[in-house]
Amino acid sequence: MTVNLPYAMTAELTHRCPLHCPYCSNPIELQKRENELSADTWLNVLEQASELGVVQVHFTGGEPLLRPDLELLVRRARELGLFVNLITSGVGMTEQRVRQLVEAGVDSIQLSVQASSSELADSIAGFQAHERKRQAAEWIRASGLDLHMNVVLHRANIHSVEEIIELCAEWGAVRLELANAQYYGWALRNIHQLLPSKEQIQAAEVAYARAHERFGHQIELLWILPDYYEDFPKPCMGGWGQVSLTVAPDGRVLPCTVSSDIRSLIFENVKERDLAWIWHDSPSFNAFRGYDWMPEPCKSCERREIDYGGCRCQAFQLTGDASAADPVCKWSPHRGVIADKVGSIASANGNGDVGTPIYSYRGR
Ligand code: SF4
Ligand code: FES
Repeated sequence: MTVNLPYAMTAELTHRCPLHCPYCSNPIELQKRENELSADTWLNVLEQASELGVVQVHFTGGEPLLRPDLELLVRRARELGLFVNLITSGVGMTEQRVRQLVEAGVDSIQLSVQASSSELADSIAGFQAHERKRQAAEWIRASGLDLHMNVVLHRANIHSVEEIIELCAEWGAVRLELANAQYYGWALRNIHQLLPSKEQIQAAEVAYARAHERFGHQIELLWILPDYYEDFPKPCMGGWGQVSLTVAPDGRVLPCTVSSDIRSLIFENVKERDLAWIWHDSPSFNAFRGYDWMPEPCKSCERREIDYGGCRCQAFQLTGDASAADPVCKWSPHRGVIADKVGSIASANGNGDVGTPIYSYRGR
């Protein structure tokens, strides 16, 4: 089968992070600082990525600002002709750091926010971050860069979608991703505290439409659906090994950021193999390309070219079998797993906001 060239590379410079978000989608087992790739290895990875055809690089983490060599990597990526995006919590940003990043050639910065009020935002992050984010947004805007923002929506903040959009518009964002939480990794541990009710999602969709009317002309809004309430899964990652790759802090190359939790696969490392070989020939990247690997009902399904059988990580985390049809699908033999989770959460929490939940915080 023909293998596309990767369009984007996510470079996870570190798993270290000052925030403790309960919905963190990074793998359960985080890499320690001593296992992180050196700047020289990252420089080499960037060169290989550019030769392979990668067009965009997203520097992320954890918190990428914790790497003092970030500017060096941004500069090299830019010299190689890559579009450079930085995804950050904003914690650790200074006016000088923004200047250095701009000078190094960063094209855009995406800042996360947890809620519209600092009290709720800081309680979700498990860290006093909101005011630092506001300040970081101000410096980014003042530098002339486009400010992109993102928020993860869940039971505790979904009631204030309109206020969150208003806040991001006020901070000067030109683009905002409103991503309903995805339940992998750490987020799956907190699913009882995070999953909104169907009623909350319906109300949020109405509020989103209203905010779109008000702010749609000044800020590009992206609404990422909560798939637990859908009939069909999302075409996760645009297909396994089709569009993008992730290099984890320790050098393992992954088809998506959470796939290292799939224990049935072995992921190759840039310290031992070329990126091109890993992309084109490695067993992990080829495991779910095409349709031959699919079991029924996906194998003969008319939607297999639309959703590729859904998300491999979700299938593994909920069924233990990474090749299973995503349990979100109404035709999946595992649909009962989702129905049971949604049912037990609804009966424990009711239909509305139940106050500030008691999370299991990441990194504590
Ligand atoms: Fe997608 Fe498989 Fe469900 Fe068909 S059966 S809609 S391919 S997950
Ligand atoms: Fe890994 Fe969907 S999150 S394939």
